[in-house]
Amino acid sequence: MRKLVPEYIENLKIYQAGKPIEELAREKGLTKISKLASNENPLGPSPFAIRAMTQKLWDLHRYPDMHAYALKAKLCEMYHLKNENIILGNGSEGIMAYIARAFIQPGDEIVTSENTFIGFYILARGVGANIKTVPLNEQYRYDVEKMAAQITEKTKAVYIANPNNPTGTYLTKKEFDYLMGYVPDHCIVILDEAYFEYADDACEDYPNSMDYRYDNVITLRTFSKAYGLSGIRCGYGFAHENFIKNLTKVKLPFEPNALAQVGALGALEDQPHLRRTLRKNKMFYKDLLKYLYRNDFNPIESVTNFVTFKTGSTEASMYLFESLLNEGVIIRHLKSNEMPEYVRISIGTKDEMDHFYEAMNKVLPKYNDKFGRIS
Ligand SMILES: Cc1ncc(COP(=O)(O)O)c(C=O)c1O
Repeated sequence: MRKLVPEYIENLKIYQAGKPIEELAREKGLTKISKLASNENPLGPSPFAIRAMTQKLWDLHRYPDMHAYALKAKLCEMYHLKNENIILGNGSEGIMAYIARAFIQPGDEIVTSENTFIGFYILARGVGANIKTVPLNEQYRYDVEKMAAQITEKTKAVYIANPNNPTGTYLTKKEFDYLMGYVPDHCIVILDEAYFEYADDACEDYPNSMDYRYDNVITLRTFSKAYGLSGIRCGYGFAHENFIKNLTKVKLPFEPNALAQVGALGALEDQPHLRRTLRKNKMFYKDLLKYLYRNDFNPIESVTNFVTFKTGSTEASMYLFESLLNEGVIIRHLKSNEMPEYVRISIGTKDEMDHFYEAMNKVLPKYNDKFGRIS
């Protein structure tokens, strides 16, 4: 009998996002909540973005500009590109969905790493792709040699999150060049740079994909992270014009929506806000690392706005997650990333980080009694 739902859809697990603040408030009756679970910019969006979106509210009876002329023009100016090289979508994940729709067919092979962005696995499996993964290396970094060894004539796509979520580690220029040496022309490379602004600021040997011109590579970036606009769902992709043309054929015409277009443009026009974001992030990242080391955890050093560390067991990470929830602090346990012994913390504001340290100080004595220290 023919099935109503394809097996690859039946087998999919639904994506679990970080717990929303409202949900925790409802469940526990808490008033003070710090969400450090979804790698958002805790400073919020630039006032330029807010002003632009507020003005746009009066125009919401009109459809958005389907060519997103103004936003694309700004991106062209910033990155010295042509309009034909850019696609915009509902978050960078929205563009990933277009890539899956336009390029991947059931049974196609995709090479990537274990413990990378879950959203990508879901999208790829959702079109019936066969995903080949290799483990991260001992430093929690992509193992480019093992990935290269998995690429065959049948490989249709390679997915690289650079920097990687949930580890916060990155692929160097040398490693990227090495991997590209193994990618055949008929295979596309999805270079997911959701945390580009943080990594570019933090490390010298981070490969800025704008310096490369491969016809089969698409770079994805987003307004959700450093630009503080997760809520409007706006991402952008850069690639060869043929690549973009094919994506445009499957794109929903009015994405991104009208508020997202003007909000994103406002955000790009406020580079001081971005610099402030990066400065504060760096400062609070250093404090967080010190705190974790001082308490005998072993954090993975990150070039992003989040830090992941090992607790020692699935039970310990669930205990830490639940105990912090009771204190009004939402972090992320990494069960769905197949890293059940790990938790991830996004860098918040000073207030939110103080709340986290306070909650940890309260929770740790019992935690240490139960699970011991893991140094
Ligand atoms: C590596 C990575 N790629 C993509 C995304 C999705 O970003 P967007 O909000 O632009 O869809 C995320 C979000 O957490 C991410 O961590």
